[in-house]
Amino acid sequence: MLNESFCYEDGELCCDGLPLRTIAQAVGTPVYVYSAARLRHNAARLQRAFAPLRAELHYSLKANPNLTLVRMLSQAGLGADAVSAGEVDRALRAGVDPARIVFAGVGKTPAEITFALRAKIGWFNVESRDELTLLNRLAGEEKCRPQVALRLNPGIQAQTHPHIATGHAAAKFGMPPETVAEVLGARTAYPHLRLAGIHVHIGSQLGSVTETVAAVRLAQSLAAPYPDLRTLNIGGGFPVPYTPDDRYPQPEDFAHALAPLVGGWRVLAEPGRAAIADAGVLVIGVVAVKEQGGQRFVIADGGMTDLLRPALYGAIHEVVTLEQRDGPLAPAVVSGPVCESTDVLHRAAWLPPLRPGDLLAVLTAGAYGMAMASNYNLRTRPPEVLVEDGDWRVIRRRETWDDLLRLESEALDGRSPERS
Ligand code: LLP
Repeated sequence: MLNESFCYEDGELCCDGLPLRTIAQAVGTPVYVYSAARLRHNAARLQRAFAPLRAELHYSLKANPNLTLVRMLSQAGLGADAVSAGEVDRALRAGVDPARIVFAGVGKTPAEITFALRAKIGWFNVESRDELTLLNRLAGEEKCRPQVALRLNPGIQAQTHPHIATGHAAAKFGMPPETVAEVLGARTAYPHLRLAGIHVHIGSQLGSVTETVAAVRLAQSLAAPYPDLRTLNIGGGFPVPYTPDDRYPQPEDFAHALAPLVGGWRVLAEPGRAAIADAGVLVIGVVAVKEQGGQRFVIADGGMTDLLRPALYGAIHEVVTLEQRDGPLAPAVVSGPVCESTDVLHRAAWLPPLRPGDLLAVLTAGAYGMAMASNYNLRTRPPEVLVEDGDWRVIRRRETWDDLLRLESEALDGRSPERS
């Protein structure tokens, strides 16, 4: 969806006044372009929205872990939500205060836990009894006593795409209420842990606040008997509109619904998408246009390896031309070059007549775009560009074939790749 940062000026789609064409011509396509202004605007808006809860915000790196972007959000006052030691490492390198890093994840390995313990991160969001036992042992070995939030699986179905619902009983995430209650009743079994919070994240792109309120109430009832357990991590999931027709609750609606419940509680939240989705677009170039089976196929140089969401979730990202055109609009299937039938960026984008070389933008692509890009078909992942203060710069360069080969280079030399 277009917004104040990504809009047409004098017939050219711009990012904060800078024509996207300029960037596409300089670095080629596909390319991700982000607006620093929009990112800062989103960070400030989230902080304002959650101010009534005095919530501490932790940016969920999984949405987009680019070093420069994480650093900007950290400088804007957000901590970090990591789900792997790699993300913990990235947050540290971006300058996030270790005390403001929370570490979730359903399968943390001993090596990952030890790394995070040594980094002295703020919170471990623990998702199973086995993880508690492991963390307790490793904390003992490291002679520290980390803060732990138990991740509750509240058994609540969030209103969202089934692939991104995490709080229903059949999901692998967190622990059911009975387990959380049992663990809390047996806290002395974990002398090296400070069980100080409950974490609950029921899904992403949440369609309503009702389920979040129910999950928070359940978390609070489980914590009620323990006066020293007064931290609530409400996770992320705050949705963004992808098209003008989308109607979703705003971050303010979540804050408003939760405010009456959380007096006396320390509140943490983990927004990812809401911080970055509408601060980024993917610019692609048209390679070929063909009429086939009654459809107009627009084949672009970017596809599912660059932006997986349409193929994986049937997600809708608007596709528009960089040059505003008056020509008659007609539906087109915008596809990538990947050898998969599901390599579609948009199944029915209303577009003017197009020719090879024309440039298109796939909108609202800042979250879970580059983060989920792959090298399938030996495609190099696109560069990332940041527009800031009327200028632009590459914040991650385009991968090269040598980059892709580097990890296999020993095999290339006739030696077997080292065991690791
Ligand atoms: N906290 C936890 C524990 C999470 O699992 C997630 C997202 C977040 C926070 C951030 O959620 P957000 O505010 O971004 O909705 N690839 C999918 C989204 C997967 C989300 C996974 N967890 C997509 O492209 O829609």
